[in-house]
Amino acid sequence: MRKQIAAANWKMNLTLQQGEQLLNDILALTHEIKENQQAVFAVPFPYLQMAQQKLGNKQQVFIAAQNVYNKKSGAYTGEVSVDMLQSLGIKTVVLGHSERREYFNETNQFLAEKVNICLENNITPIFCCGEALNIREANSQNVFVGQQLAESLFHLSAEQIKKIVIAYEPIWAIGTGKTATSEQAQEMHAFIRSVFAAKYGNEVANTISILYGGSVKGNNAKELFAQPDVDGGLVGGASLNAQEFVAIINALK
Ligand code: PGA
Repeated sequence: MRKQIAAANWKMNLTLQQGEQLLNDILALTHEIKENQQAVFAVPFPYLQMAQQKLGNKQQVFIAAQNVYNKKSGAYTGEVSVDMLQSLGIKTVVLGHSERREYFNETNQFLAEKVNICLENNITPIFCCGEALNIREANSQNVFVGQQLAESLFHLSAEQIKKIVIAYEPIWAIGTGKTATSEQAQEMHAFIRSVFAAKYGNEVANTISILYGGSVKGNNAKELFAQPDVDGGLVGGASLNAQEFVAIINALK
């Protein structure tokens, strides 16, 4: 079975103390995470070490960065490299979140470079894709998302693509309280899998975990995750509440 993943994306929220408290509360509530499941916490850079020390030794729990730069080292003031993440034991990074694409002008080509440097250094990218409302209204979401995947990922080999986790996040559902219906999520996830199948074959496509993101909550996670091609969620707002996020972990298949 594909890995089923509940990934928290704290974005630019919480102080260090609040973050520590949140993780303590989650630890107090979490039961066993099954072998085919993972909980991932994408925390702000300054909290990576704290989170890693608190949770790094737990089975099936991974701490992730929310971004990384496309260069190994050098005069790039304010940026963070894969080596820096590796030196903290961080092996997962969220790439291409729609907020980075929109506010920091990250293009598909730039993200392809980030994907490469991650894979070359044994870091798993959680690669985000998804369309804005006007694209959905024009019914062009498949073409748009297909292009995001093709331009950032299709240079990879079959062995490499198996190491990527995809997060489909329709921009119109992020932080808006407007979740895609489970049918809309399933339809797009099946499309994404078919795009990988066409390029890499069914066997490879069936190994890739595709997470849904966009207003996932404790009370809608079960229905979304029950869809055959939805392998978990990337969760913003609800990941800042211990009870909500634990309910989301518990909703994994
Ligand atoms: P949301 O954010 O759960 O607050 O909608 C999801 C995301 O942006 O990853």
